Amino acid sequence: MPSSPHLSFIDRFITESDKALRTLATGDKASGKASPARTITEGELSDSERQHAANLMRVNHTGEVCAQALYQGQSLTAKLPHVREEMEVAAKEESDHLHWCDERLKQLNSHSSALNPLFYGLSFGMGALAGAVSDKVSLGFVAATEDQVCQHLEKHLDQLPASDHKSRAIIEQMLEDEARHKQSALEAGGSHFPSPVRFGMSLMSKVMTKTTYFI
Ligand SMILES: [Fe+2]
Ligand SMILES: [Fe+2]
Repeated sequence: MPSSPHLSFIDRFITESDKALRTLATGDKASGKASPARTITEGELSDSERQHAANLMRVNHTGEVCAQALYQGQSLTAKLPHVREEMEVAAKEESDHLHWCDERLKQLNSHSSALNPLFYGLSFGMGALAGAVSDKVSLGFVAATEDQVCQHLEKHLDQLPASDHKSRAIIEQMLEDEARHKQSALEAGGSHFPSPVRFGMSLMSKVMTKTTYFI
């Protein structure tokens, strides 16, 4: 249900909590846009290659859980209605990414991360905090986060087994979308974050990528 400017903070909090539970259950099929991997034939993968690809896609799945949490947290506290609406549109696109990663994890006979509730909570809190400071900071936070996501997706393209064309197609499409999200957040007035803040964010992102590869 889209948030309206007339909804009270409590109403929006309840709506966002409902979205959180749906996201963690991977039951919120908001857009239903088909995975870019859908029409690609499965490549030949050894057991170790399959495991490695699954581990990378688990990291990406958690990244998408975090992205939805971030956007939903921001839409809760964003002050200008157009900023709130823009965040919700982006969150819907992230929902496609989440489902593509989830589908791919299942095809690789693997599972999503047990740490998702933890990272969802952290990202939701950071998004809400950024939104509470100002829309400029909130949009800047989106841009900085999307920038980091692009960097790790590029690394994953290098690390994926050469024959895993399905995972590659998903990551390539996500990379294109995340770069666009970054650009629109900056164009909407997002502030450029100083290096120390970006360094702190990249440490947090490293903790996420290193742990969810295994758990
Ligand atoms: Fe995404
Ligand atoms: Fe994004």
